[in-house]
Amino acid sequence: MSFDPKPVLDHVDAAFDASVERVCELLRIPSISTNPQYADETRRCAEWLAEQLRGMGFEADARQTAGHPMVVAHDHSAGGGAPRILYYGHYDVQPPDPLELWETGPFEPTIVDGPHGKRVVARGAVDDKGQLMTFIEAIRAWKAVHGELPVNVSIILEGEEESGSPSLDPFLEQHRDELAADVCIVCDTGMWDIQTPAITTMLRGLVYTDITLHGPSHDLHSGAYGGAIVNPINALARIIGELHDATGRVRIPGFYDDVMEVTGEQREQWRSLGFDEQQFLQSAGLTSPHGEHGYSTLERIWARPTCDVNGIWGGYIDEGAKTVIASRASAKVSCRLVADQNPQAVYDGLVRFLHDRTPPGFKWEIHPHGMSPAIRVPTDSPYLEAARQGLGAVFDRDPVLVGTGGSIPVVGSIKRILGFDSLLVGFGLDDDRMHSPNEKFELRCLHNGIRSHAAILAQLAAMPTGGSSSSR
Ligand code: BES
Ligand code: ZN
Repeated sequence: MSFDPKPVLDHVDAAFDASVERVCELLRIPSISTNPQYADETRRCAEWLAEQLRGMGFEADARQTAGHPMVVAHDHSAGGGAPRILYYGHYDVQPPDPLELWETGPFEPTIVDGPHGKRVVARGAVDDKGQLMTFIEAIRAWKAVHGELPVNVSIILEGEEESGSPSLDPFLEQHRDELAADVCIVCDTGMWDIQTPAITTMLRGLVYTDITLHGPSHDLHSGAYGGAIVNPINALARIIGELHDATGRVRIPGFYDDVMEVTGEQREQWRSLGFDEQQFLQSAGLTSPHGEHGYSTLERIWARPTCDVNGIWGGYIDEGAKTVIASRASAKVSCRLVADQNPQAVYDGLVRFLHDRTPPGFKWEIHPHGMSPAIRVPTDSPYLEAARQGLGAVFDRDPVLVGTGGSIPVVGSIKRILGFDSLLVGFGLDDDRMHSPNEKFELRCLHNGIRSHAAILAQLAAMPTGGSSSSR
């Protein structure tokens, strides 16, 4: 069956203010998954979403897990012959810290003017509440116009994406049949620029660890002991400094063993995108790029593995001075992985790297925080073609195929546990300040995102039946 998306797109336009209202309501709930103090708010957020979906005629609820709830919704009224689409988004957000750098409250969504028109500023605006609302609002508009959806829709909204997704895999294992589908549409990535939509086909993986270097049995007077024993903070800083060589390569043993070099063809395709490096640097408030020698900025983000320190602490950090040598020093160290690196091997390599440098009499305490491999999704699937057509119709230009430096663990889990591929269509911009103070989402991106999902639905409706190809 083929559908003219126009009536739905018109409805999306007419109802846009109400969509923005609902996005703001969602943004007011501080669903910070990593902080147990916000567990009740996180649950309230899940309930709010389930209630919205029930109001749209879905069978929906917030399901208990060992951690935060998983929102699951179904509307399978399209029936047997129609494709089955599973939509994914996450309703949890990163902590808003540092609070003093926000111009308005992180959970008081504020609409402000910017160079692209109005934008909404709040924690989660782009990552991922504004984005998950693009498909929800598109589905809402479709139902308002046609009464029924043209495809079978299931939705899962995760509440732990920003904190390592500990409950995700067990949940997928337990609900394998219920969540069976032909493809998963993930809305948690970015556009090429505000005029050019993108489909993401490569994600990096992640290995994240907490490390502590324990030295003296207790904190020491820095005059009585300083210079005569190893200072754990100095030692940790030196060891961290050794993680990269002078050409920017990571010195963890075996780190590059399984890394696939960028092919000449890939290089060419990326070069043809016309990446604006100055604008990219400007979005970070910087002027010069940095990284592994011999690679462009896009290659460094999309196709090269990294090792970065995400936090470091130890010793006296309050007001004033305290002449002390701390008994230990800690850091959070993470590696972004590319295909075909093995997360466990990288973790083992990092542990070895640290152990090889342990000062005499010192010891390491190392805790892994979850590991996920890099992902590639097929570029020749009929679902990708449907997305390409839908996006092309809304933006009047073809979407580009891109990689991303970020990680979305669900894509690998769905492939491994449920057995089908994902399609990553998102509407964020480089300067949206994801995970940072004053995170924002352009209302133009929100609007085009809703329109795009409506247009993609029309394309999916016209596809030959998906059948049961995904059941295992
Ligand atoms: N939405 C991001 C992933 C992303 C980042 C997409 C950059 C496009 C560009 C996602 O919510 C995220 O931040 N994921 C975490 C995953 C981690 C906690 C396992 C990440 O990449 O750090
Ligand atoms: Zn996200």
